[in-house]
Amino acid sequence: MRVLSGIQPTGRFHWGNYFGAIRQYIDLQEAGESYYFIANLHALTTVRDREQLQQLTLDAAIDLLALGLDPERAALFVQSDVPEVSELCWLLMTVAPLGLLERCHAFKDKKARGLPADAGLFTYPVLMAADILAYDADVVPVGEDQVQHIEVCRDLANSFNHLYGEVFVIPKAKVLDGSAKVPGTDGEKMSKSYNNTLGLFEDAKGLRKKIMRITTDSRAMEDPKEPGEDHLYQLYSLVAGPEEQEEMAALYRRGGFGYGQVKTALADAAERFFAAARSRRAEFERDPSRVQEILEQGAARARLKAGAVLERAKRASGLNRQAASASKGN
Ligand code: ADP
Ligand code: TRP
Repeated sequence: MRVLSGIQPTGRFHWGNYFGAIRQYIDLQEAGESYYFIANLHALTTVRDREQLQQLTLDAAIDLLALGLDPERAALFVQSDVPEVSELCWLLMTVAPLGLLERCHAFKDKKARGLPADAGLFTYPVLMAADILAYDADVVPVGEDQVQHIEVCRDLANSFNHLYGEVFVIPKAKVLDGSAKVPGTDGEKMSKSYNNTLGLFEDAKGLRKKIMRITTDSRAMEDPKEPGEDHLYQLYSLVAGPEEQEEMAALYRRGGFGYGQVKTALADAAERFFAAARSRRAEFERDPSRVQEILEQGAARARLKAGAVLERAKRASGLNRQAASASKGN
């Protein structure tokens, strides 16, 4: 099985990114050959500051390594270090119907809000398809919001295969249910666009402060509460062990507790949960040349695979001159 996923370096990672996406790809590195990349070409449609994009790209790499991505098992690389993908993107562009792209939510949402959209945003799913198809990926672990893009990828791969023969492997999305929607500090979906995030590597004091300010309902302390319906409990259950969760759930059902108590327990559990990753992150931060080396080796592995797939696609579609002269001789 070949696993691939990418994540955009458009901001520092938060709990939603980790529990909704990153955690599953790290788990899947055990399952077979795997490729994980930082989608800086996609990020270019939103981050327009050179230094910021460079910094966010490096931070993303360090975060993934700290969270357990193992460069011995998985190829970790930066999207723009594999130019074969951009070339493959063009080939796919020629089989991408406008109507299909118009229905994709990133573009559709922007248009509905009357915001200007560029061709990069419009063709974003085609580049994403190239990302996936370039490595013959079977499985693509993603958050729920990306499933539509995987469907587009499957459509494009099928159209291409239909025209030119079996060139591409048809991939499947793998969505982790249960943590499909991590709530933010205001109870809405956690997202950097809503300013309600808990950062994965935010400084511990600042994080505790944010946790203490999580919005709660105004029910009386003595009322029993249903834990599953409470976003504070949902966050707690992500970072607490099974026994701690049981105890907390019982406390909710019994009533007679204060939310401050839950928030303190949440901050403590979060500190424990991320402690090892935090110290690994500090180590990588002290050794930027090691990170650079990992990314270079990852890109070299990725290019080897992507180069072979691109060659297959070029030959199948008539872009490869050598193939033409060879067939003349036959
Ligand atoms: P943001 O909403 O902060 O801009 P992104 O869109 O960059 O986050 O998300 C990157 C990945 O993290 C996606 O695969 C997405 O599904 C996942 N993700 C982001 N926020 C959440 C959330 N609150 N719950 C579950 N998954 C999330
Ligand atoms: N669009 C994805 C996101 O915003 C990131 C991404 C780019 C991706 N290319 C990909 C994810 C290929 C999976 C496979 O999260």
